[in-house]
Amino acid sequence: MDWKVEETEGQRTARLSAAAEGRDLAPGERMERIFAQPMSFADIKEKSDRYLVNNVKRAPVAFYFGQGEYLYDTENKRYLDFLSGVAVTCLGHGDADFIEAMREQSDRVVHTSNLVYNQELALFAEALVSYSFPGRVFVCNSGTEANEAAFKVARLHGQKKGNANLIVTLEGSFHGRTVAGMCMTAQAKIHQGFGPLLDHFHYIRPNDIEMLEKEMDQHGSEMCALVLELVQGEGGVRPLDAEYVKAARQLCDENDVLLILDEIQTGMGRTGKLFAYEHFDIVPDAMTLAKGLGNGFPIGAVVIREDRADLIHPGVHGTTFGGNHLGARVAYETLKIIVTRDILDNVNALSDYFLRRLKGMQLNLKCITDVRGMGLHIGVELDRPGAAVVDRCRELGLLVNCTAETTIRIVPPLNLPLESAAEGLDILEKVFQELK
Ligand SMILES: Cc1ncc(COP(=O)(O)O)c(C=O)c1O
Repeated sequence: MDWKVEETEGQRTARLSAAAEGRDLAPGERMERIFAQPMSFADIKEKSDRYLVNNVKRAPVAFYFGQGEYLYDTENKRYLDFLSGVAVTCLGHGDADFIEAMREQSDRVVHTSNLVYNQELALFAEALVSYSFPGRVFVCNSGTEANEAAFKVARLHGQKKGNANLIVTLEGSFHGRTVAGMCMTAQAKIHQGFGPLLDHFHYIRPNDIEMLEKEMDQHGSEMCALVLELVQGEGGVRPLDAEYVKAARQLCDENDVLLILDEIQTGMGRTGKLFAYEHFDIVPDAMTLAKGLGNGFPIGAVVIREDRADLIHPGVHGTTFGGNHLGARVAYETLKIIVTRDILDNVNALSDYFLRRLKGMQLNLKCITDVRGMGLHIGVELDRPGAAVVDRCRELGLLVNCTAETTIRIVPPLNLPLESAAEGLDILEKVFQELK
């Protein structure tokens, strides 16, 4: 897909005029212009605690400005962002081309409806298919919604196959918070408190080919889909074995079961390939995307392989906002930037650097029991809960998070410079050294 040909004369002219108006400000100038009068942290906290539902435990910080791999809080303290809003802002903050695309599109038209055609959506779908596999795209607003759509594709396939409603997913998986997302998620804590959920879900051990064979042997005829994360993110940054993924593809083919990949966290270059399935030499029947897809703009998508795409026909699924002009344009621009700026080379080079340095730390520090990951999706397993490490890193100006209780998750922007990787790793090393 040739992006230059894709760009219309009008778009190019708009870009040039934006640059001439000084929209492509240098990072420092941008900060000076934007950093006006943030609210005090105390006020933000007070209002949040008073008016927001109490569904998450928030760290005591609020960010006001971002540039590249850095965030600045309301007191202008600088933080190196190795969290990227949980693997979302894949291009960091304040990318000039990204901002310009958002501005230009907001100026022109933000939303019409899915009752009419839409240039940005058509171009985005074409681009996504060109860079993944021949298929068709459904665009929505979040990861869990993408999985909800994939659930429908799975069940529609099951009905065609003959009342085959069973969906199998892996222990430790996380697929979202809607009803279907929760049911796909094999973590009991996510199900708790909601009474009976949907029937016909089984959870099996990751990387256990024998168990998968047995499941297919016993239940293959009732099964419509196997749903996998190729690297379990919320489950502790745990990549699947190549043999397991190959076996899964083969068993799905033999049993007429859809292989659905949840690439919500692994997609858009996070693992060093544009999509993680490319590491495994397989093609899924459907793939769900979100997180990095819009570089912070809320958007999700399902790519459905061409030979399965007619499972979706008018009336079976829909969305009001999904794929509107602004969302589609932003996702189109994000994809374009990832594939035209050698970002994947940077991910791979930095991945080696991170893994080498972290494994070096593991040799010297007892508190680290494992270092794993793919690309810039890295987990450091500790011999204790990781919450204190996250807090101490934040004090020292580094943002990471902890998943599955004991795994420090590192998901920096994909265009992170090497010097900033070194800066963040120095902080992490200091914090690990402080652990008794
Ligand atoms: C693998 C995976 N699937 C689904 C989701 C749900 O996405 P969202 O939070 O956008 O609904 C997440 C979110 O963390 C995820 O990591």
